Amino acid sequence: MRMSRLEGLRANSSQFTLERKPFRVLGGSIHYFRVPRAHWEDRLLKMKACGLNTLTTYVPWNLHEPERGVFNFEDQLDIEAYLRLAASLGLWVILRPGPYICAEWDLGGLPSWLLRDENMKLRTTYPGFTGAVDAFFDQLVGRVVPHQYSQGGPIIAVQVENEYGSYAEDTEYMPFVKEALLSRGIAELLLTSDNKDGLKLGGVKGAIETINFQRLNPNDIKYLDEIQPQKPRMVMEYWSGWFDLWGNLHHVYSAEDMIPVVTDILKLDMSINLYMFHGGTNFGFMNGAFAVGIPAPKPMVTSYDYDAPLSEAGDYTSKYHLLRNLFSHYHTQALPEPPPLRERRAYLPVVIQQHLSLWDSLQFTDKPFKSERPVNMENLPVNNRNGQSYGYTLYETTITSGGVLNSKNNIRDRALVFVDRHFVGVLDYKTQELALPDGKGRRTLSLLAENCGRVNYGKSLDVQRKGLVGDVELNKQPLRDFIIHSLDMKPGFVNRLESTGHWLSMREQPSLPGFFQGKLYVNSSPKDTFIKLPGWIKGVIFINGKNLGRYWSIGPQQTLYVPGPWLHRGDNQVIVFEEQETDGKIQFASSPDYGMTVDV
Ligand code: GLA
Repeated sequence: MRMSRLEGLRANSSQFTLERKPFRVLGGSIHYFRVPRAHWEDRLLKMKACGLNTLTTYVPWNLHEPERGVFNFEDQLDIEAYLRLAASLGLWVILRPGPYICAEWDLGGLPSWLLRDENMKLRTTYPGFTGAVDAFFDQLVGRVVPHQYSQGGPIIAVQVENEYGSYAEDTEYMPFVKEALLSRGIAELLLTSDNKDGLKLGGVKGAIETINFQRLNPNDIKYLDEIQPQKPRMVMEYWSGWFDLWGNLHHVYSAEDMIPVVTDILKLDMSINLYMFHGGTNFGFMNGAFAVGIPAPKPMVTSYDYDAPLSEAGDYTSKYHLLRNLFSHYHTQALPEPPPLRERRAYLPVVIQQHLSLWDSLQFTDKPFKSERPVNMENLPVNNRNGQSYGYTLYETTITSGGVLNSKNNIRDRALVFVDRHFVGVLDYKTQELALPDGKGRRTLSLLAENCGRVNYGKSLDVQRKGLVGDVELNKQPLRDFIIHSLDMKPGFVNRLESTGHWLSMREQPSLPGFFQGKLYVNSSPKDTFIKLPGWIKGVIFINGKNLGRYWSIGPQQTLYVPGPWLHRGDNQVIVFEEQETDGKIQFASSPDYGMTVDV
C-alpha cells in the first residue's frame, strides 16, 4: 500500500504526527473474532466510508490458544489476513493485544486453563502467568511485527494491556507486558488506555496514556493534561453504546446524545476511537459476565450489537449517517460512498424432525471421569489435560434418600437438577436449596451445570472457575463419588451426534433437556437472517456445526444473528440444545429484536 515510510505515529507534542505531518486518529473498533470472516471486508469498507482512518482491534488469547501450546491463527482467527485487509483499504491499525482485553469476553480474553493452577494470579508477574504470556506472545507478536508501519504495514500503535489502572495488583506487571512487546520486535508507538479513575495507576513509562468515557467531563480532560502535559489527547474508548446482560433491558445511547459529545471531542483537537464502531456477535460460549456492585455475576447476552453506529448485521444507523457527516469535515477529499446494504431474508420456519435426549448424547462426549469429590470444569482431565473451558458439565452420583439439597453456593453458574432423570429444579446464586423427593433404593442425582460466561472485569478474575467448585450437600452430608461428563459441545461432538446419534422422530414425546434437529432449506444464494424461538426457553443453536450462541427467553435479546456465509444452498442442518421446553419449530426474521430498551 503506502510506499513511503517516513516516520510512524509520534506523540512528541500536543498533536500526533504521522509521516511527520499532524495527524488525528479517527478510529473505530471492530473485532475480527466477532464478525464472520466473509463479512470483514464489508464492515471495513463501511468504516472507511464513514470517514474513519484507523481500525482498532483486540486480540483474544483464549481463542488463539485453546489448549496450552496449541495455537490457532487460521480462518476466523487469521489476524494477519485482517491486518492485510485493513492495509489494502487504506486503514491504519491500532492493535490491542492484551494479554487481558476485558471486552465483555470470557475471562477478559484469558484462557481458562490458566485457572488449573490453584495459586494463579492473573494480570500479575506471578511466574505461572508471565510464562504463559511469554509463550503466547512468542506466537502472536512474531506474526504482527511484519505488519507494523516501520515494516510497510498498517500498525501505527500498540496498546499495552487494558485498563490496568483499575486492577493495579502488581507494579511490576505493566513494565513486564511492555518489555514482552518490545523484546519481540514491537517498534511503533505504545499507549495505554484507562477510565479516569484508572489513569493514575494504569500508565507505564514510554507509553502515552489515553482515556475512556462516554460523557465528556472537562475535568477529566484537564486531569489527563495535568498528568501528561504537552502530549496528544485521545479517547481510546468512546463508548458508542453499551453491552447487555441476560435478564436486564437492552441499552441504547441515542444519536442525539452522542453526536454533540463527539463534536466537542473533535473541537478539543482530540483523537478518538469509537468503541464499538461495529460490535458484532459473541458467537459460541464466549460472552463474559458482569459482577461489579451486584451480589452475583450476570452473564452478557449473545449479541454484541452495542447500539454501535454499524449494527450487528452491518446495517447503517442514524449514528452512522450523522458521524459520516461530521467526520467529512475533517477530510480534504470527499468520502467514499457507503457500500450498498446486504439483503436479508426471513426464511420459512424450520420444523423440528428429530430429537435426542441429553442422556442419549452422553456416549458422544469424552470418556466420563470418576471422582470422589466434585472437580471444577477447568481441572477436569479432558482436552489433553487443559480442562473444560466452556459449556455444560454433568455431575452424577447415587443417592439413597430424598431431603434437602444445598449447593453451599458452590455451583457456577447454575445447574438443572434431576433425580433418576426427572427434572426437580434449578440451583443458582439465588436459589441454593432444593427439596429432593423421597424414593426407594438407589437413585441417580444429576446436576447439569452451565458455565454462563466468566467475569471479564473487576477483581474477581482469579476465582472464575466453573462447574462445581466445592461440596454440595444432601441433608448436610457432602455428596461423593461423582461421574462427570464434560459437555463443551465442540464441533467434533456436534458432528458425532449428528452422524451417529439415535435420533427419534418427533412423533415420540421428546425428553428434555435434549437436542433437536431440523433442516433449513435455502433455494438461492444464502442471505443473513435472524433466528427467533418464541416457544423455547434456554439453550444453544448450531447451524452446519457452527455455534451461533445462547438464547434465553428472559431476554432482553430475542433473536440470534445468522450470517449468510455460514449457510449454503440446499439443506442446512440446524441443531438446538434446549434445556426445558420446545414448540417444535424454529422461526426466522429479517430484522433483530434486542428487547425492551433503556437509555445508557
Ligand atoms: C472498558 C474495557 C473494554 C470494554 C468497555 C465496556 O473500557 O476496556 O474492553 O469492556 O469497558 O464495553
